[in-house]
Amino acid sequence: MSELQHNAVVFSGGSFHPRRYRERMLQVIMETFNMRGMHIASDAVCSLFSTGRSTGVVLDCGAGVTHTVPIYEGHNLRYAVSGQNLGGNDLTQLIRTELAPFSFRPLQPRTGSDMYPYPHAINNMKESTDLFFVTSNYESEAQTTGIETAYQLPDGQTITLNSERYRYPELLFQPNLNEHTKDKQGVHQLLINSIQSVDESLHAELFANTVISGGSCMFSGMKQRLEMELGKLSDHVVEIIEPTSKLNSAWVGASIIASLAEFNRMMVTYDLYDEYGPMVVNRMI
Ligand SMILES: Nc1ncnc2c1ncn2[C@@H]1O[C@H](COP(=O)(O)OP(=O)(O)OP(=O)(O)O)[C@@H](O)[C@H]1O
Ligand SMILES: [Mg+2]
Repeated sequence: MSELQHNAVVFSGGSFHPRRYRERMLQVIMETFNMRGMHIASDAVCSLFSTGRSTGVVLDCGAGVTHTVPIYEGHNLRYAVSGQNLGGNDLTQLIRTELAPFSFRPLQPRTGSDMYPYPHAINNMKESTDLFFVTSNYESEAQTTGIETAYQLPDGQTITLNSERYRYPELLFQPNLNEHTKDKQGVHQLLINSIQSVDESLHAELFANTVISGGSCMFSGMKQRLEMELGKLSDHVVEIIEPTSKLNSAWVGASIIASLAEFNRMMVTYDLYDEYGPMVVNRMI
């Protein structure tokens, strides 16, 4: 018998996975770990719950993907989800290939595509507090002086950053500015697509409860810029809500779900699994 048999588990994020993945997950939870129950909630629902809301729209911008998910009373409005494969990894990759090659000398000589094999070092630089930022006025930022700054890479070399500090995060709003991201949409446009896909009577509530989550929303200035861009495209009052931790908001929300009084009725128990088989998991999303 597994040590986990008295526990139930909440998975965040699985609601957009193919059915067979979810079914297999349930099978493993029930048959390998003999757990008491399992619940799947989307990352977006969890992030929204972490802010104490059950209705709103969530922008989740992570490492590989960006999603915008409208949620009404705790339910994903799946038909209105917008998403694309553009996230922090793409920014890291661009910074690494466009910015670092000429200045970043690996400790060990490398060749070919393996020449700059330190994505962690570039990620650390990208995540450094206030080094990169989202500007509120991309056009006039070029005239701003005094933003030049130096960053020391792990090999001891110093890299000088100037307009790059806001040009890379800008790709989240204007992906058309770079050859590699030009077929993508700005995060504000994804939000508008999602909100406009739901009934008009909900628009005001969604604009007023727009939650941002995911590591790539951590650039400073993100909230203000998003408020400005959505304000230009909508007559509704726009309020952007930042969870206490954008990186952990899904975890916080999942732990709230697990502590709800009705959680026992929300999860798939062994009895349900036994009676209906792994497909029963698809009923909960
Ligand atoms: N302070 C920061 N500033 C800018 N970007 C950051 C910061 N902290 C983390 N990131 C970036 O956020 C991304 C990870 O975010 P997150 O953990 O939300 O993604 P994920 O859930 O693992 O990925 P996905 O949702 O795409 O599957 C990485 O690209 C990371 O470099
Ligand atoms: Mg994520």
